Amino acid sequence: MNSRFFIKTYGCQMNVNDSEKMAGLLESRGWTQVYAERSASLFIVNTCAVREKAQEKLFSYLGRLKRYKELDPACTIVVAGCVSQLLKEEIRRRAPFVDLLLGTNAYPRLLEYLDQREESDFRLSRHWNEVTSLHRRSSFSAFLSIMEGCDNFCSYCVVPFTRGREKSRPLSLILRELDELSAQGYKEVVLLGQNVDAYLDPEKGGGFADLLEVVAQRSGASWIRFLTSHPSKFSLRIAEVMARNDKICRALHLPFQAGSDRILSLMNRGYSKAEYLSLVKAIKERVPDIAMAADIIVGFPTEREEDFLETMEIVEEVRFENIFSFLYSPRPGTKSSKMEDDVPPSVKGERLIRLQERQKEIQLEENLKRIGSVQRVLLEERNRKDPSQTVGRTAGGRVVNILGPCETGQFADILIDGAGPHNLKGRIPL
Ligand code: SAH
Ligand code: SF4
Ligand code: F3S
Repeated sequence: MNSRFFIKTYGCQMNVNDSEKMAGLLESRGWTQVYAERSASLFIVNTCAVREKAQEKLFSYLGRLKRYKELDPACTIVVAGCVSQLLKEEIRRRAPFVDLLLGTNAYPRLLEYLDQREESDFRLSRHWNEVTSLHRRSSFSAFLSIMEGCDNFCSYCVVPFTRGREKSRPLSLILRELDELSAQGYKEVVLLGQNVDAYLDPEKGGGFADLLEVVAQRSGASWIRFLTSHPSKFSLRIAEVMARNDKICRALHLPFQAGSDRILSLMNRGYSKAEYLSLVKAIKERVPDIAMAADIIVGFPTEREEDFLETMEIVEEVRFENIFSFLYSPRPGTKSSKMEDDVPPSVKGERLIRLQERQKEIQLEENLKRIGSVQRVLLEERNRKDPSQTVGRTAGGRVVNILGPCETGQFADILIDGAGPHNLKGRIPL
């Protein structure tokens, strides 16, 4: 049997980082990662349960893997990640050919479970699980996990059930990985956690602002980012650390989910619309050029037109660089799933389109203002559709299409000469 593995990753950056760790663990045992299913004998699916659509992707993908299993019954199929943690019985029932289910806190012991072919532990650990071997997806931009899990229990969300309670990684271990990344010449480091602003060093007790300051001063990478932040945990000290450290990208992902106080309270978000807006104002006073991004849920149970208009008001007032907007999806075990999902799908869909269309206009207006400016970008890859172009990203996260093939993994100063709602166009100034 060959020793090649293939990993399919769904979901958030935390899942991408976990897949990098699973790949590193397998490679430390002599396995080789491949990027086409047909040449693999071990398949790992790292799954996301945050919305029903994400979860169903697993089941349709498993239908595809079933065919590989029929061709080669000796191959191994592993399902890891949030759906495995949340719905192991359902996976067993709907896909009995899966060989191994892994819980979200069990993947550090992937090799043992593969050897024993026994079901993993699904208990959610309260302690950080350190994995040091990673096969990173990029040679210039690295994910660095600093905490995992969530204690907020927003009424719609499965993450506290799939990832467990908040656990922060000791600062000493974070700095060890940071130093390795510096030695390897990484240009960008992205600090990851479900709520990075809830970080609390289990050894010395420092919070996220302290960590960010140390990382900014010590990192060899020129750009530092972090996600995601929670509005009720966000201290203005974090904005002050951003303001005085140029290495920290002027970008903040601060989901607000909804604008109506009644809906925010039903969601158990712990802040009001006025509190969110005054937080954003205070952040912008400290970091004036900050690019804000947010997640928004449309069509939460009982959402009326007037509630939705308050969501639109936040979008109007903040003028986000980017939004990630989702239709509400009832999830098993959550509090809101017991409420009647009473907003008709056509109304939800129409609101989502209105929100996205307005945001698109705002993005276009803001992007047009950048024509003629010079923006520093990190050159990420050749444009897949047009290899004569290179795709870069600004510190604020905006995609820039650059005329001409450039060396990727480097920074460049780009003269912006065109703009659409989702990206900028530019060239290297003469
Ligand atoms: N920890 C992060 C994000 C977690 S999930 C945070 O709290 O900000 C990413 C996004 O998915 C959420 O911000 C939310 O907008 C969306 N989401 C989570 N549960 C959802 C559900 N049941 N239906 C629709 N969208 C959901
Ligand atoms: Fe989910 Fe809320 Fe926690 Fe984010 S803060 S992961 S939305 S429970
Ligand atoms: Fe999805 Fe789990 Fe991330 S549910 S969004 S993969 S934490």
